[in-house]
Amino acid sequence: MADRNDLEFTYSLIDRIFRLSLGELADFSGAKYDGDFSLSLEQAQRRKHDYVAEQIGIEPGRRVLDLGCGWGPLLAFIRERDADGVGVTLSSAQAAACRRHGLDVHIADARRVDRESFGDFDAIASLGAFEHFCSPADYEADRQDEVYRRLFERIATAIPVDGRLYLQTMVFGRNMIPYEEISIDAPRDSDAWYLALMGRQFPGSWLPFGKEQIVSAAEPSLRLVSAVSGRLDYIETIKQWRRRFAEPSLRKRLLKLRLVPRWLTSSDFRLAFTSGVSANSVCFERELLDHYRLVFERAR
Ligand SMILES: C[S@@+](CC[C@H](N)C(=O)[O-])C[C@H]1O[C@@H](n2cnc3c(N)ncnc32)[C@H](O)[C@@H]1O
Repeated sequence: MADRNDLEFTYSLIDRIFRLSLGELADFSGAKYDGDFSLSLEQAQRRKHDYVAEQIGIEPGRRVLDLGCGWGPLLAFIRERDADGVGVTLSSAQAAACRRHGLDVHIADARRVDRESFGDFDAIASLGAFEHFCSPADYEADRQDEVYRRLFERIATAIPVDGRLYLQTMVFGRNMIPYEEISIDAPRDSDAWYLALMGRQFPGSWLPFGKEQIVSAAEPSLRLVSAVSGRLDYIETIKQWRRRFAEPSLRKRLLKLRLVPRWLTSSDFRLAFTSGVSANSVCFERELLDHYRLVFERAR
């Protein structure tokens, strides 16, 4: 899986730039436009939260676990609904930001969470984090199914029979190329190059092959209730994020200046943050990637 260093690289290093661009309780997972791109990003993120609430039952008094909670947008929504949210993240900056907002967040590995960790929950949500649970090394060692199976077995113990899990994640799409072909030395603009660039932006992360791999790993403890693709919505989400990141701001400029030494000394940093292209967006357009909103129910 992506380890703590990987996630500190992706999320903590530019934590303040993220928050200045997307807001203090920044949502950093695909929004739910349902194809209606006249909605603002904020409206579409709100629609996503409402959908999660409807699917897993976020209601007063209920206890909900958020695996990979980021800067806490869903936890804040859970609080608004008079429910209790507990979040885990591996980014120290995210945990600190969440705590400043009074959210109950722990630096813990989502893959190790079970009933013993934080007690019983009525429901679980995980948005945009499953992407990090398996690494290229796990894939190469043929451990990908096992990583997912163990995660599902563990988290299922924390919810009652019929309790629900909302899982939103990117997956490899129908045009995914063989792993061996992925290379940063491939021609710029090729599928192989874009996928390698994504690997630099999200080091240590490797995606499931379609929703099918997830659904089969989740059985028998969790059965699928519904699956909806959010690929086109994700392309719009990224477009809106890029707009916000590009908005001029003196504070952002100063923060970026502080990262110049890193930029000068790390080619991975340059590729990850200043390549000038959104690898994810291109990969979604080419269907190298897809994106799913999955709802599961604990079966036994
Ligand atoms: C793309 S962000 C999504 C954040 C949030 N769910 C949202 O929708 O805005 C991915 C999150 O997953 C967390 N994450 C990734 N792997 C993790 C792991 N093994 N254990 C805990 N958190 C993890 C990261 O720290 C980050 O908070």
